[in-house]
Order: sequence, then structure tokens, then C-alpha cells
Amino acid sequence: PEEAAVDEAGVLHLGGVSVTELAERFGTPLYVYDEAGLRRQIRRFVDGLSARWPNSEVLFASKSFPAVGMYQLAAEEGLSVDIAGGGELQLALAAGVSPAKLHFHGNAKSDAELRMALEAGIDTIIVDNDDELDRLERLLERPQKLLLRVIPGVEAKTHASQATGGDDSKFGLPMDQALAAIERMRAHPLMEFEGVHLHIGSQILDVEQFGEAVEKISTAGEFPMYDVGGGLGVKYTYADDAPSVDAYLDAIVSAAREHLPADARIMIEPGRSIVARAGVTLYRVTTVKHTGRTFVAVDGGLADQMDAALTGQRFEALLAERVLEPWTESVQLVGRQCESGDLIVDGATLPAAKVGDLAVVGTTGAYGYTLANNYNGALKPAVVFVQDGSARVVARRETYEDLLRTHAPAIEG
Ligand code: LLP
Repeated sequence: PEEAAVDEAGVLHLGGVSVTELAERFGTPLYVYDEAGLRRQIRRFVDGLSARWPNSEVLFASKSFPAVGMYQLAAEEGLSVDIAGGGELQLALAAGVSPAKLHFHGNAKSDAELRMALEAGIDTIIVDNDDELDRLERLLERPQKLLLRVIPGVEAKTHASQATGGDDSKFGLPMDQALAAIERMRAHPLMEFEGVHLHIGSQILDVEQFGEAVEKISTAGEFPMYDVGGGLGVKYTYADDAPSVDAYLDAIVSAAREHLPADARIMIEPGRSIVARAGVTLYRVTTVKHTGRTFVAVDGGLADQMDAALTGQRFEALLAERVLEPWTESVQLVGRQCESGDLIVDGATLPAAKVGDLAVVGTTGAYGYTLANNYNGALKPAVVFVQDGSARVVARRETYEDLLRTHAPAIEG
């Protein structure tokens, strides 16, 4: 996080609040976000894009961190919001985001979700396929803005599960079918076809790939709007190198100047690159075990930090109250779930850890809370925002009561 500091005693402070206080007040595991850092990162996207291409819009890909407090913050900072389902729609509306700021994505939207979105009066639906057009034909009662998701045929250089723009993607339509779908929308009196959408994948570190995507999407034709998705990669480990927001925007806008109509509206949908680096996860060390290796086990794991197992994402960890001590050991920082893949950091360099130490894992602001689950009956952690020496709860920790309410049979009354 941008607002992180270490005091003389070697204790990490986030947004001016010590990790000791955070753990005591809110418990662990705990997702902690630097609120000022989040806002500054949003401004880099909003100001950077509007300076380069004034007719533009930045959407927050809310799947990366769908907490009501984050929807509120995004709306306050002037972002529009990408929602991908009835649940994210409900969360965004509960946060008070204006429906006029909502863009609805998804490759398998149901009638019920489309009806809910239409009733709410959302701005744009990103149509994925012909079945969705059938549904809209049945459901539309007034004019509705639509974009069409196309497959650009750009194989993103990222983990296979994060590449979405290649020819065999389940998202969107290939160019020939897209053209037919566009004709169909143009012929319908209530379908206001505005343009095309693409998203080539996530955690992409080569910004030239975004320029390539813009070039590919221009082959679909000339439209008022082009949404080029999200996907900018971020720095996770000391060894990583990630492009700046400016380098990313330069790549998109210079390709747009070359390939898109000068009066087109350009939209981008960053998720990870807005929230990842503003968030960390705090854990309490519960076990230290020396077998062939040293295992430092914490009170969370795969249930709150899926990405290490899902995408092989590598993270860095610190002992959060002993930051200034020499890092003398290389350990397996593991979680408590019953999976061998529940390895948070493979080879974390730390001082000799003890039971009761606080461990902090960095760059966990994106897709951690999103993918949190109840594996082994784990309770989803709380989320707090820190700023200027104070902390506020944005999502409360689940309780055993919540768990029982969801997983016990409903009592028929
Ligand atoms: N737009 C669309 C249509 C998307 O599907 C996504 C992400 C984004 C924007 C935002 O992409 P971002 O800027 O966050 O890279 N579960 C994976 C990540 C899945 C990304 C899904 N789509 C992970 O945890 O790494």
C-alpha cells in the first residue's frame, strides 16, 4: 500500500494504524485496504484517460473487490461500474451507485437477472451471445443501450485461466458471428446498439497487447463506443516489474488514434490494477513446524486467498511486527485448509517465526475477498479501510451463526 510505514520497533502501520491494533480490534484473518491509496490510483486512471482521450469513461470491474464500501468509494471518485450478475447488481444498488453508471456483463445472464437490470434502469448491457438477444427480444419494453462482446483473437500472455481473448474463449462472439448479431440489434426498434466490447484477460504485463486488442476490435467496424476491458497487471513480488498506469493508457490511446474513429467514446474496465496493491491480508501464525522444511501456518489460507492455488500467483509476506529483524529463514507460509495447494508463499524469507506472530501478505486487494469461501467451515474475513490513523469496517467478519443459517436446512414454517 502507498500509506504503509514501519515504526522504530519494527511494527508495520497501514494508513497510520498499527497492525497490532488492527489485529486486536478486528481479529484475523483481516483484509486491510489503504483508502487514500485506492482513491489516488483511481485518479491516475480517470485523470490519465480523460487527459489523453476526453470522450472516455473508466469503469471499475467490481468483481475484483465487490464490497459495498468499495462500490461507494468508486462512485464517489467518479467511476462507472462493471457488474457481472444479479448479485453484483444488488451490491452496487445497495451502495447507492446510480443505475446510469452500471454496465452489465456476463456470458450467461438469466431472464431474471436481465429483468432486474432493466427494471433498475442500468445504462448498458454488454451482450455476449445470440441467446441473450433472444432473451432481450422477449424482455425489452423500452430502448436499451447495448454493446456486443467480441472475441478479438488476442492470446494474452498470462496464466491460462486469466486469458479471455483467444479464439477459443467462452466470452463473446467471433468476428463473423458478431457482425450478424450487430445487424440483428440494428434491426430491432428497442435495441440501441452502441459499439463493441472486448477483454483479453487479466494480469497482463505487456501493454503492447492492449494496443493490439484495440487494433483488432477496430476491424469490427466504426461505432460510437469501444470498451477495451481491463487486465492491466500489477507488481506482486519484489522481483516483478509491472507497467505504470500511464504506460498502459499510452498503449491504448496511441492505438486508438491510429485505428478508432476520432469521435468514438473509449471505455476501460480496470479491476485488479485499481485494488490489488492497496490491499493486504493480516494473519496470525498458529503453528511453526520443522520437518524437512519449515512450515509456518496461519489462521487463514486458501479459503480467503485462492489465487496462489488458482492461478499460481506469487506473493510476498512479512512478519508484520518484526519488520526490522533480519530475515534469516526461508519457509513455506501455509494456510489451514485441507489442501496441499494451500501454500500462500512458497519460500517466504522471514525472521524465525513464532506462534502468535502477525504475518502480512501484500498485494491481496484484488480477487481475494471475491473468491473467499467456506472451505473447512472457514468464516469469511472482515474488510477494513484505513486512513489518517483510523480504521472502519467495510464488511463484517462472518460468524458461525451466518454459516449455520446458510448451510443448515431451512425450517419450513
Ligand atoms: N472486464 C471484464 C469483462 C472482466 O471479465 C474482467 C476480469 C475485468 C474487466 C477486470 O480485469 P482486471 O483489470 O481485474 O484484470 N480470478 C482471476 C481473475 C479473473 C478476472 C476476471 N475478469 C484471478 O483471481 O486472478
